[in-house]
Amino acid sequence: MTLKGRSFLTLKDFTKEEIDYLLRLAAKLKENKKKGITGNTLKGKNIALIFEKPSTRTRCSFTIGCIDEGGHPEYLGKDDIQLGYKESVEDTARVLGRMFDGIEFRGFKQENVEKLAKYSGVPVWNGLTDDYHPTQILADFLTLREQFGTLEGLNFVFAGDGRNNMANSLMIGCTKMGVNCTILAPKGLWPKEELTELCKTYGEVSGATLTLTEDVDGAVSDADCIYTDVWCSMGEEEKAAERIALLKPYQVNRQMLEKTGKDNTIVMHCLPAVKGNEITEDVFEEHADIIFDEAENRMHTIKAVMVATLGEGVPEL
Ligand code: CP
Ligand code: NVA
Repeated sequence: MTLKGRSFLTLKDFTKEEIDYLLRLAAKLKENKKKGITGNTLKGKNIALIFEKPSTRTRCSFTIGCIDEGGHPEYLGKDDIQLGYKESVEDTARVLGRMFDGIEFRGFKQENVEKLAKYSGVPVWNGLTDDYHPTQILADFLTLREQFGTLEGLNFVFAGDGRNNMANSLMIGCTKMGVNCTILAPKGLWPKEELTELCKTYGEVSGATLTLTEDVDGAVSDADCIYTDVWCSMGEEEKAAERIALLKPYQVNRQMLEKTGKDNTIVMHCLPAVKGNEITEDVFEEHADIIFDEAENRMHTIKAVMVATLGEGVPEL
């Protein structure tokens, strides 16, 4: 399997086998790193890290992942470059493509990460847009595999803003990988119908079910994993009061966990968390080991994406 030269813009562009390959490569790179072994697959490669929105995990993962493999990362924050303001995205893309070997983009518009890929001519990696957060899903799935040994047949529930970047990407990833996916959210925050229909077609191939529901009891019954994310994504801060009122019944708390009927249900969160909103502090702390494994796995999985799409001498699996 080779993904050399490919961009990573949304999981829609990747098959189940390709996602599985990235997860296995990440597991191998993680095992190596734990033994103190790093690589040279990105030696001589320069990587641009464009951040229109702030980041802890994604920025650090790209930086450390790149350096671990012998590459050079360059951080370009929102006040450092003109992207889309004084210079068109197309022109910035063509400039960066002449200097860098790969580009990470975190920002608002999915359209911009797609333009960067189209005009730069080098692999571009989506570090989060308003619509998708595909590298996060790889970390989530690596963590699920570490916990359950498999992905296929797991019952996965996302509770919260069902139309945000995390819900969208989880839906795509789950239905591709054979994970039964439930989006538990008030109807006004359900994902777009077009994406739901597309994910159902993925589920027909993988055997995964996709359910959108407002019913907490029905959704969490038999859940292997309950996942949540902030109620207001970056850029939506002014919606806080409205969202709290809408989403309070969907808070991940002890009562919700008791309704799963299982004593091994895990809780996951992409972080950063607003404790007291989408998750209570006691539930967060009880599941903190897994949540921070998930955060660590951002680094191993993002490294895998860079190595697979740009690296030379990629480890055999
Ligand atoms: N989960 C995640 O993307 O975290 P950051 O916003 O800190 O990168
Ligand atoms: N939905 C969140 C995810 C953060 C990793 C946001 O976009 O802010």
